[in-house]
Amino acid sequence: MNRASGLLSVAELARSVPAVTAQRYLLGIAGPPGAGKSTLAQRLRTELTRAGRAAVVAPMDGYHLRNEVLRARGALARKGEPDTFDAAGFVADLRLLRQTPVGEPVPWPLFDRAIDEPTEGGVVVRDEQIVVIEGNYLLLTDEQAPGWAAVRGLLDACWYLDAPRAVLTDRLLDRHLAGARTRAEASAKVAHSDLRNADLVAASRPRADEILTAVGDGYLVH
Ligand SMILES: Nc1ncnc2c1ncn2[C@@H]1O[C@H](COP(=O)(O)OP(=O)(O)O)[C@@H](O)[C@H]1O
Ligand SMILES: [Mg+2]
Repeated sequence: MNRASGLLSVAELARSVPAVTAQRYLLGIAGPPGAGKSTLAQRLRTELTRAGRAAVVAPMDGYHLRNEVLRARGALARKGEPDTFDAAGFVADLRLLRQTPVGEPVPWPLFDRAIDEPTEGGVVVRDEQIVVIEGNYLLLTDEQAPGWAAVRGLLDACWYLDAPRAVLTDRLLDRHLAGARTRAEASAKVAHSDLRNADLVAASRPRADEILTAVGDGYLVH
């Protein structure tokens, strides 16, 4: 970011993404679950595209291990924690994205919440020079969770989207209730899993280039 600060519209945030030349520019958006990362990433893509800059969103979520694998490891109930993702695969694909010339395809998995599983090649990055990488664990150290520390060095910049714990709690409850959990199950998942993950992510916040919080339609950069 070109050191913009204060309350910015998404269009202003998009303008703060540096102009790039031959190589791809990988912008990370980290933050706790429910902070609004996916929403901000899509809004940025829209504004970048409107400004004539080809951009695509490549989420970390597509690197969730499949339920079958998690079940076999006895880790299904912990789904969402750092070791329930294929961190090595994510790192390898980030590297591939950096190395592949603009114009050549790089398939990228997406996470399909309707079936609660990743889908291979859900999006294909090809002509886009700007790739917005969004997910919880982009700024973790290997001491926090093995395998994640290599991510930061593969991003050109990484923002951290923060949100108050009460807001996260409400949004995550709504998410789990929409995903066929009972209220008790949803509350338990938030208390015992999501908020623990949020605390882990919060400890990685000092590694971000910029910290953002949503205010109205805009984002406060501080
Ligand atoms: N700036 C915002 N203002 C109000 N609600 C928001 C904002 N950003 C996201 N949300 C809502 O919060 C919920 C979680 O957002 P999402 O982008 O899925 O978060 P994340 O990807 O960080 O888990 C969604 O229901 C979304 O509509
Ligand atoms: Mg998301």
